[in-house]
Amino acid sequence: MALSHTAPAPLPLPVAITPMAQEHLSEVYAIEIAAYPRPWPFKCFADELFRNKFAHYFVGLDNTGAVRGYAGMWMIHDEGHITNIAVDPEWRRRKIAEQILVHLINHCMQRGMRSIFLEVRRYNLPAQMLYTRYKFTPVSVRERYYADNDEDAIILRVQNLDAPVFRDNFDRQRRALRVMLEQHG
Ligand SMILES: CC(C)(COP(=O)(O)OP(=O)(O)OC[C@H]1O[C@@H](n2cnc3c(N)ncnc32)[C@H](O)[C@@H]1OP(=O)(O)O)[C@@H](O)C(=O)NCCC(=O)NCCS
Repeated sequence: MALSHTAPAPLPLPVAITPMAQEHLSEVYAIEIAAYPRPWPFKCFADELFRNKFAHYFVGLDNTGAVRGYAGMWMIHDEGHITNIAVDPEWRRRKIAEQILVHLINHCMQRGMRSIFLEVRRYNLPAQMLYTRYKFTPVSVRERYYADNDEDAIILRVQNLDAPVFRDNFDRQRRALRVMLEQHG
């Protein structure tokens, strides 16, 4: 009987998460182009970093200092709005996005944000699986929001970052992630 060979799951890769800076922009942009069907223009990232006082952007660096993923958000009043989160296609399924998302949530909690919103494509199941793990729930749909393929946008939200149901889950998931990174990273 022929043996079936399935590729082993990639190992988690710990990343150092640090504020995005000018020196990261070319690597960030290479990921942006690879990750999104309608990437932002390069100039948007520079504008976010240097002109948008509501913007908070981070990169995940591997142990060589290479950018493997990034994310950004706006913080307005007591609401965080995640604008993007992307990982280099060659480095996916290594818990990089999850580390960055945990960092964003933590950043929001430390700065007194009450809720977090984001938009996700209806058929972007990988991203939705990640957000569901951290208790983001759908609140509305923007029909045919994405012009490239008329895909709907689902608006996801964590309504109350102080709610015990959110906090308990966040602490549990974060601990599990830490253990996994220590074991395999
Ligand atoms: C979505 C994205 C950021 C995930 O990045 P990643 O580093 O590969 O994700 P992680 O390894 O941290 O995965 C964490 C969890 O997300 C979910 N997930 C991620 N990729 C998945 C996939 N291809 N299929 C199913 N679930 C997936 C799983 O629940 C996973 O946990 P598990 O490994 O225990 O199963 C990445 O696929 C990406 O850059 N996509 C293009 C850009 C994009 O769509 N961004 C989101 C915009 S809203």
